[in-house]
Parts: sequence; C-alpha cells; structure tokens
Amino acid sequence: MTIQALKGFKDILPDEARLWQHIEATARDILHRFGFTEIRVPILEKTELFARSIGEATDIVEKEMYSFTDRNGDSISMRPEGTAPVLRAFIEHGLQTRLPVQRLYTLGPMFRHERPQKGRLRQFHQLSIEVLGLDHPRLDAELIAMAWLILEELGLSTSLQINSLGCQACRPAYKAALVDFLSSRQDLICEDCQRRSQSNPLRVLDCKSSHCQEQYETAPAILDHLCPDCAGHFSQTKTSLELLAVPYAVNPFMVRGLDYYTRTTFELITDALGAQSAVGAGGRYDGLVAQLGGAKNMPGIGFALGLERLVLLLGQQNADACPETTTDLFVAALGEEATVKAFPLVHLLRRQGLRVAMDLEGKSLKSQMKQADRACARFVLILGAEELARGEAVLRDMTSKEQQTLPLAGEPEAVCARLIETITTKEP
Ligand code: HAM
Repeated sequence: MTIQALKGFKDILPDEARLWQHIEATARDILHRFGFTEIRVPILEKTELFARSIGEATDIVEKEMYSFTDRNGDSISMRPEGTAPVLRAFIEHGLQTRLPVQRLYTLGPMFRHERPQKGRLRQFHQLSIEVLGLDHPRLDAELIAMAWLILEELGLSTSLQINSLGCQACRPAYKAALVDFLSSRQDLICEDCQRRSQSNPLRVLDCKSSHCQEQYETAPAILDHLCPDCAGHFSQTKTSLELLAVPYAVNPFMVRGLDYYTRTTFELITDALGAQSAVGAGGRYDGLVAQLGGAKNMPGIGFALGLERLVLLLGQQNADACPETTTDLFVAALGEEATVKAFPLVHLLRRQGLRVAMDLEGKSLKSQMKQADRACARFVLILGAEELARGEAVLRDMTSKEQQTLPLAGEPEAVCARLIETITTKEP
C-alpha cells in the first residue's frame, strides 16, 4: 500500500509553486519598499509561549495546537502562528536597543489541528508582519495600506473590515456589559456560546450559527464603550486610511481568535473562498511584549496573510499574472560523442546565467525535440554526428522556426560567447 500525506497537510506541486513564488516575490518587494527586514524563527517553541500570548481560553490553545512532551519532559508546540515566536526573539535578542522601531516579517508554515476544508489546512503558510515600538495610529493605517497594496499588486480584490477592541482601561466595562447581555439570553444561544460567555465572552460574537447571530444584532458594541484615548486612536486610524485612499468598512462585531489584540483590528475578506473568507488579518497588541516579559510600554501591531488562500484566489482571479518559466535553450546532442562535447558547454552556459536543458543520454532527435517542446524552449541547439564532423551545430529558433549554423571552433568559452550573442540578438 502506498503512503499518503496526512489529512490537512498538502504537497505544493510544481505548477502551483509558480503561483507561490510570484506571491512571495511580490510581497517581499513591497515589504522592502516599506522598510521591513526578514526574521526567521523556529517551528517548535515552548507551549507556554503560546498559552501566554494567544490566550489559554482560545480555540487555538485549547484544542488546535500540535503539542507534545519531548524527550526532556518539556511541553513543546509546533507554532500555530508567527507573532508570538517573533516577539519572543525580539525580546530574547534585545532588538529594541538597535532601532527604536522594528519592522519585521517572517514567512513559513504554521500548524493548527482544525477540520480541513477548502482554504483551511492543518499545515498552512503565513506571511507574518510585525512592527514594534510605535503606537501612532498613522502606523495602523500605513500597515493596513501595505496589506492592501500587496493584494492590489497581485491583482486580487478583497474588502477590508476594521474595528477597535479598546484597551485595558475600557475593555473590562464592555466585557461586563456583554456578559450581562449574554446572561439574559442563555437559553437562546448555542451551547458553545453559553460556555464561551463565561470563558471568553467576546468570542461569542464570532459564532457561525445564524441563530446566535440574530441574537447578537442587539448586543452592546465595543465601539460604544471605548475610552477617549482609544476612540481618538480609532478615529485617527480611519482618517489616515482615508488619506491613503484605502476603502474600509467598520465592523463593530469583528473579534479576533487570539486574545492579545488591543485597539485596531482588521480583516481582509473575500467571498470567493466559501466559509474561509479571511485572506489576512491582524491588529494592534500593545500589551503583548510586556506580557511576554519584555519592556513595558512596547507597543506592537501586525498582520498575517494566509498564503494558501492567496494562492486559491490568484488561481481563480489572476493566474495569468505569473508567466510559465521557459527554457532559454535546449541542447539536443545526438549520440555519445556529441553529448560529451555538449555536456561542459551546457554547464558553461548555465554559469553565464542562461536557463539551459539537455538530454544527458544523447537520445534520438525526435525524442529530444519532444523534450524541448515540453520545456517550452525558446531555442534548440542541435549537435548531430554530421554537424560535429563539420565542426558546426544547428541553432533553431522555436518561435520563427528559422535555422542557422553556428561554428563550434575554438575554446568552449568562445563557443559559448558566440551562442549567447546570437541568441540575444534574435530575442524580441
Ligand atoms: P489569524 O487570523 O489566526 O491571525 O491568521 C491570519 C491568517 O492566516 C488568516 O486570515 C488566514 O488567511 C490564515 N489562516 C489561519 N488559519 C488557517 C488555516 N488553518 N488554514 C489556512 N490558512 C489559515 C494570526 O495568526 C495572527 N498572528 C496575525 C497577526 C500578526 N496579528 C498580528 N500580527
């Protein structure tokens, strides 16, 4: 019996990898324009890191983490997200002493034991972006506008929802008002919401049941409970978004699945992927660095894009944006003697930067022309026994179908230079 990949774990096959590379290159380019630098953090961390940041009473920590006890008896988890590991590294290496404001991004696999479905995997990839050291609302808008620009340059259309979750000062009173509201409706809401009204009341607002959602239409909204500082911050965030012409909708019932958020939160939403509508999400987490033992008063904000969801969207909306990689030249050497001659030549051409393919076994011309077609070769260089005897090769332009002979005399470097010159003058 053959062995298959685990449920919710997916191979990224060559055709799809093209889309991944295009997304990654586009995003990295934009991140560098905004002054971000890359940080790479481990996949395994102490379980406590996630419990202390994401929150003990969240779905992620309660039931979705891949956690195990290692051979030393320590509780270890595979990272379910990127923010906590990046902040752990930021604190551990004292990065704040190097630059007052750190702009960091990381890209890689995350792990959550969720029920797999379209756009939802157990191993998925995030481009996770964090800015530490500044709490100005203009930064919130700048970061959201950057997320918007990444999607725009990929040719993807989504909508943006924003909210503010307040701070330590104003959230407790809101929570109390919400708990009050929920206790009067316990028999009208689902069991999950009943349980959550105790453990993590804000999360009920995220319930997928339409029955519960009907009840919550009249629930108190956090935006009506913000303290003056948070209200001012949110209002400036909105004004700054308007200055950058980023269209947004305020959704006062948008809560996030992670407990560390304060003030601005946002989600980039699509209706093209069924239930998994968020292609990216994030927000401010001003207390998190201190919570993890770092500097007090170290504000932070960030977001993550879900790469699988971007790939799905790109496949649906704009797959033509990433051209197939083509081969510049296919070297068809026929027979052993010609293959021995072509072998080092191909290596030299590759060293010069050309994308070159060859058949290492010197198969028949017919077979090699098929291979050249499959590789979408722009040119084919044919080295047959007769050509070799004359000290020549035939160069075929696969677009115009024109052929010309090329002398093979001289050192391989000279042959290589002549070939490159001929090809470049012919290229459109
Ligand atoms: P999150 O909302 O849990 O936030 O995840 C961010 C994005 O990752 C989602 O919008 C979605 O596109 C993708 N994603 C999440 N779970 C899955 C899954 N099971 N399969 C496929 N894609 C998934 C965070 O993780 C925060 N750390 C974001 C952040 C960074 N906040 C501040 N900085």
